[in-house]
Amino acid sequence: MNLIKKYNTAAPRYTSYPTVPYWDNGKFSRMDWQDLMQASFREVNAREGISLYIHLPFCEQLCTYCGCNKHITVNHGVELPYIQTLLKEWSLYLQFFGEKPRIRELHLGGGTPTFFSEENLSLLLKSIYKDAELLPDAALSFEGHPGNTTSGHLKTLRSLGFDRVSFGIQDFDFRVQEIIHRIQPYEQVARVTEEARAAGFSSINFDLVYGLPLQTVSSMWSTAEQVMDLRPDRISFYSYAHVPWVRGTGQRHYTEADLPADDEKRALYELGRSLFIANGYKDVGMDHFALPQDELFQAYNNGRLHRNFMGYTVVHTSFLLGLGASSISDCGRAYAQNEKQVGAYQQLVNAGLLPVVRGHLLNQEDRLLRRHIQSLMCRFETSWTRQDTQCDAITEGLQRLQEPERDGLVEVLPGKVRVTEKGKPFIRNICMAFDARLWRNLPQTELFSKAI
Ligand SMILES: C[S@@+](CC[C@H](N)C(=O)[O-])C[C@H]1O[C@@H](n2cnc3c(N)ncnc32)[C@H](O)[C@@H]1O
Ligand code: SF4
Repeated sequence: MNLIKKYNTAAPRYTSYPTVPYWDNGKFSRMDWQDLMQASFREVNAREGISLYIHLPFCEQLCTYCGCNKHITVNHGVELPYIQTLLKEWSLYLQFFGEKPRIRELHLGGGTPTFFSEENLSLLLKSIYKDAELLPDAALSFEGHPGNTTSGHLKTLRSLGFDRVSFGIQDFDFRVQEIIHRIQPYEQVARVTEEARAAGFSSINFDLVYGLPLQTVSSMWSTAEQVMDLRPDRISFYSYAHVPWVRGTGQRHYTEADLPADDEKRALYELGRSLFIANGYKDVGMDHFALPQDELFQAYNNGRLHRNFMGYTVVHTSFLLGLGASSISDCGRAYAQNEKQVGAYQQLVNAGLLPVVRGHLLNQEDRLLRRHIQSLMCRFETSWTRQDTQCDAITEGLQRLQEPERDGLVEVLPGKVRVTEKGKPFIRNICMAFDARLWRNLPQTELFSKAI
């Protein structure tokens, strides 16, 4: 049987374990979060520093494929009140911390960070830095929309220590851009890429998506060739997550009939991949490519790649603080998510409360499975100690891998599981074998996009 058909089931992307739909929210409270987060911070801050994620949710226009948490508005009057709320949230955390946070990683995500003016971004960042120690080797990055990233944004962020940027490209084909409601000419992307290089950004990432409506082998070929002309340092080549039940009407401006079928979708990926590899890019983890000199490939190559709610990262901290509407934090012992709606988020913070509204306290089994799933996602292998294999969830996971092993996707060796080359496209399915919470609570409704 065709492996794509067999394994193209709904599967999480494993930016965390347990994944958000399987959090035990009933056992979580704001008080728990405050205590655990405070204790973890005090353990890790001096030793390794922290990661900070700031969610800037506004976009001027809705891209109809979008699965991110965003708020569409053309009213830029929302910028300052939102920044004031972010800074208030930061000051609430500072009271718990009791000492200056040491920032090793900072990412501005969205929505569209470049919706905000350079002056407002500068105000936000300078206010954050004032109460923190920015470590000399800190990795600072932001998501830039090519449609509204100005050379002023680039120069300002560069002067504030940012040297990595990720541009949302998705696809260069006009018909595809039209149907996803995101017109973005090649010339515009070429300009902003050159400006980022001129401003001194050392790592430029392009986000591309395969499986979008109306994409064909020939349109993907042209897109990939145009990407090769601009030669970003990294490429995130995402599988289109079709989850219209999660994002309301946003993804309903086209029908399933406009989407490439499963094997066509895989062919789009293979085509892009082969062109990237032929042009000197290296595979990094799932759906990512990088030039050999880029830090992301070097981290992958020497086993230092890490994965958290922001995706793959070269920095490994065990404390990630997420500020802003819908942001997720991870203090190692617990996860917490902020209120998603901008208005309700602002109300909570302005009432002096940490705006966390759901979360999960990790037990011993969760921590063990998280380590193995992380290792599979970042290194395509994981190894066991004798103590691990005494855990039922591991034994059950190994049983679930028997069929993928017969299909040649994994090798189960004494004390070790290794994903084969043939198995790499199915990494989400392989991790799912160890997702004990998913198997114990199989959902009645669809929760995840398809694995391929
Ligand atoms: C927050 S968005 C990008 C930042 C900025 N708003 C922009 O559009 O340029 C992050 C990335 O997620 C990816 N993305 C969004 N929705 C997706 C979906 N439904 N399936 C797969 N990838 C998606 C896109 O590649 C997008 O660039
Ligand atoms: S893809 Fe980016 S710009 Fe488009 S709606 Fe989503 S977050 Fe906003």
